Amino acid sequence: MAKSKDSLEVDLYFGPVSGWRGDALIAGIFENGEPQAALKQCSTAINEKVKRLIEAGWMTGRSGESMTVALEADSGLLAARLVLVGLGKKESVSAESLRLLGGTLVDLARKTGIVTACCLLPLDKMGHIGRQKGVCALAEGIWLGAYRFQSYRSEESKNKELNPLKSLFLAALEKSASVRQKLFRVEQTCRGVYLARDLCNHPANVVTPEYLAQSAREMGERLGIKVTVFCEKSLQRRHMNGILAVGSGSANPPRLITLEYRKGEKRAPLVVVGKAITFDSGGISLKPAENMDQMKMDMSGGAAVLGFMQAIAEMGLDIHVIGVIPAAENMPSGTAQRPGDIIRSAKGLYIEVLNTDAEGRLILADALHYAESFEPGAIIDLATLTGACVVALGNVTSGMLGNNKPLLKALQKAGKQSGERVWPLPMFDEYQELLKSTVADVRNIGDKTAGAITAACFLSRFIESNRPWAHIDIAGTAWDSSGKRAYVPKGSVGVGVRLLCRYVLKNLH
Ligand code: BES
Ligand code: MN
Ligand code: ZN
Repeated sequence: MAKSKDSLEVDLYFGPVSGWRGDALIAGIFENGEPQAALKQCSTAINEKVKRLIEAGWMTGRSGESMTVALEADSGLLAARLVLVGLGKKESVSAESLRLLGGTLVDLARKTGIVTACCLLPLDKMGHIGRQKGVCALAEGIWLGAYRFQSYRSEESKNKELNPLKSLFLAALEKSASVRQKLFRVEQTCRGVYLARDLCNHPANVVTPEYLAQSAREMGERLGIKVTVFCEKSLQRRHMNGILAVGSGSANPPRLITLEYRKGEKRAPLVVVGKAITFDSGGISLKPAENMDQMKMDMSGGAAVLGFMQAIAEMGLDIHVIGVIPAAENMPSGTAQRPGDIIRSAKGLYIEVLNTDAEGRLILADALHYAESFEPGAIIDLATLTGACVVALGNVTSGMLGNNKPLLKALQKAGKQSGERVWPLPMFDEYQELLKSTVADVRNIGDKTAGAITAACFLSRFIESNRPWAHIDIAGTAWDSSGKRAYVPKGSVGVGVRLLCRYVLKNLH
């Protein structure tokens, strides 16, 4: 499925710099005008030239900056050109700045027609970043930045935008097996991100609940993951009325998709739950027209779970993980649920639906209750749940709520390291009061305040009190309309996949 990526090969290069033949050698310059040490491997003539460019102020080393120098026959190098890229201040080089640099490199290659490149950056320790970490972050930025969604472009317009870059080598010092393996994992993670992005970028007339189910079945077949899909009948049999009520307004029937990956692990499983509203019109509580098209991404949580399951299966990790994806389309129609309806959730709690646009929590109510049946060691859910979370944290960081300090701490750490940050919001008892219903056990909206928190409070009603649980609200981070982050093209970010991969690699593996 992640086709767009297969054309780009990122690999390590161990030979001498002078012997590498291709379109461009890439070297970094720090903001203080200091070239990276590895440039010394090139002739003094080239080093003199670079020095003059820096002294003249043509190249300052600020991040985002780049400059191309043609290499003559007498350069002593087989590469056609030398590309200098800004690394920023030495002390502020980070995994994230290297990811951004990776994205910038792909962009540069696209603009200047570079097909093959060799990057000298990993030859030096970058600031306080270790060499292996540096290679991985750079490769990740390159892979993620190379993503393009081209499914709906005719051949003609496709070719114009096509990525010319075919292979990018990262010059490395030692032939260590561990860096190779780490790089593999980065690639498998990025493939998961590609899958998640593809699923979200496809429009809602293509990606229906059944389409997601079929993608899961195919992945299961390919990677030995056990996939179960509950169709409407099974949902009815299991009294999953939250999922049924949300799906009732649509011609595309709802599904509950379960993926079980299990390899050599005896511990209680991790269950990851992802909201998958394939289109959120708001239902009878209809959304305004402006930006409603974006609501095709309201299945980002489910897409992240699929991408994550693919990644861990491809890595072949010795873990036990179950993905649960409630999928439905939220539409207004004669069969849709109404504001004021009362539904009985699978857990048996009666819910007063005061706003049909607060639909994510209704499908999650049944999915979280179902997740409990696996008696997991922890439950993590991802959902584009509330506009309030976007107001609180913007597009920079996802909101995180839950009931278990160690789990939340571990996720926050994984967020920091992966570049997919999550930030805690409180769940004090007082917030639960806002969900009191006059006729049922719980209402599906609070008042106008603390929307991200009351949504999480609602979810908490479907979690057993002693079960470690974290809810991650990705409403602000799932979609990028700016294209300003070099490794995130406009559209779906594929957020959550890197976070979850990092979390299991550091905590379960
Ligand atoms: N899918 C939306 C939340 C959302 C908003 C996601 C913006 C991405 C970007 C969710 O189903 C929703 O409509 N939430 C309502 C809840 C409200 C009715 C209590 C919201 O946030 O307005
Ligand atoms: Mn909604
Ligand atoms: Zn929604």
